[in-house]
Amino acid sequence: MRITVLGTGYLGATHAAAMAEMGFEVLGVDVDERKLEALAAGELPFHEPGLGGLLKKHVNSGRLRFTSDYAEAGAFGDVHFISVGTPQRPGSYAADMTYVESAVTSISRHLTHDAVLVGKSTVPVGSARGLRALARAAAPEGVDVDLVWNPEFLREGHGVQDTLRPDRMVLGLPGPADRVRQGEDADQESAARLEATMREIYAQQLDAGTPLVVTDYETAELVKVAANSFLATKISFINSLSEMTEAVGGDIRTLADAIGMDERIGRKFLDAGVGFGGGCLPKDLRALRARASELGLDQSVRFLVEIDDVNVRRRDHTVGVVTEMLGGSVMGRQVAVLGAAFKPESDDVRDSPALDIAARLHSIGADVHVYDPQANANAARRYPRVDYVDSLPQAIARAEVVVLLTEWEEFRTMTPQQLAPLVKHKQILDGRNVLDPAEWERAGWAYRALGRKGSTAGVPVGSVSMAR
Ligand code: UDX
Repeated sequence: MRITVLGTGYLGATHAAAMAEMGFEVLGVDVDERKLEALAAGELPFHEPGLGGLLKKHVNSGRLRFTSDYAEAGAFGDVHFISVGTPQRPGSYAADMTYVESAVTSISRHLTHDAVLVGKSTVPVGSARGLRALARAAAPEGVDVDLVWNPEFLREGHGVQDTLRPDRMVLGLPGPADRVRQGEDADQESAARLEATMREIYAQQLDAGTPLVVTDYETAELVKVAANSFLATKISFINSLSEMTEAVGGDIRTLADAIGMDERIGRKFLDAGVGFGGGCLPKDLRALRARASELGLDQSVRFLVEIDDVNVRRRDHTVGVVTEMLGGSVMGRQVAVLGAAFKPESDDVRDSPALDIAARLHSIGADVHVYDPQANANAARRYPRVDYVDSLPQAIARAEVVVLLTEWEEFRTMTPQQLAPLVKHKQILDGRNVLDPAEWERAGWAYRALGRKGSTAGVPVGSVSMAR
């Protein structure tokens, strides 16, 4: 079986390299020639641990190639993965399906033999059925094309591992609704064929014990947005509680540890701080709301409005705390911002809380110096007006307050002693709750955190170590 991957952004490039690693011959397809040139030279246009090596390995082995030519892709592939973007539509919360529709039409039109399309992009529920019809209408006479929906759950920073060893695999197949509509049973046969093809492709993962969920298109489409909305809900839940612990002097980390010990709750995704960002969680949450609204189901997912609001409030709150730490105004004050990426191990600044907070501080008059180990260039493209520097010492030089917003290892492990000689005032805001308050306070720093009442308020900070 020969594979094409349509769309070589973050998801597509990772998927293409992983499929080559699994032994397939893979052709990556994109319309962006500059991106293709880089990939074909074995250069990754973004930061992702482990992916660069894999890309080089398979570009060199000849198992992984790239093209912008859909005719070449149609003749080459037996299975075509669709991994183009579905960004938020301008002026709306709904997902923009233009790229998916265009990829499906372009590949189907150029098929020279029977093929399977595999949808990986995150789409509004109800899309797959329409895309299947689109593919069939566009395919040449005598060529059979079918569609399976196979959502992707990979996390940035862990993309390779999440693709090679996912924690579950979901397949959406043409199901009952189609059969009823068309008054035929043909789809049952086509569903069985599609499942067999996908089992063959993912044999390594399935043999290694990855659970497989086989369902209809609609459920498969929903799994992705439901998972991301649930993760967002966990984060906003703990962040809204952190507003309370911060006000009364409690410790949000200890609270999260304690409730997380209940297996039904779990400790993961209960880290309070500046909130969630990135290319998925915020967008998927909003797209689910938009789709629910189209279906007349606003009421069903109304709580998602609050999840989003809590998240946005974190950014205002962080700016407020920095202002307070500087005595009521940031105007002309030196602020060191540590982190611009939406999370560590990524150079992605899409909807990044860190960059947004840096930009807000700048817009109200602060003199902002940003350092991120990987994301400076992307951040500068998106928000060029602040000062980007290449090292931690440069960022904190003469700082009146240090603001930690993305929890890179370099920031988690920095010490008060290391920073003290460089800053103007020993003040730090731990926007991710990753530093040890006692250590910083002992060293004479005014330490504040989001979710723990800090020393500037004169209240002792709760212990984060767990007595057993
Ligand atoms: C997410 C999903 O995890 C993944 O399954 C899906 O395929 C794509 O979307 P990703 O966007 O890479 O992955 O980031 P993730 O690790 O989920 O983090 C999202 C945001 O939540 C980050 O800004 C992160 O800092 C924040 N976060 C995460 C918290 O604020 N607290 C937490 O406890 C966990």
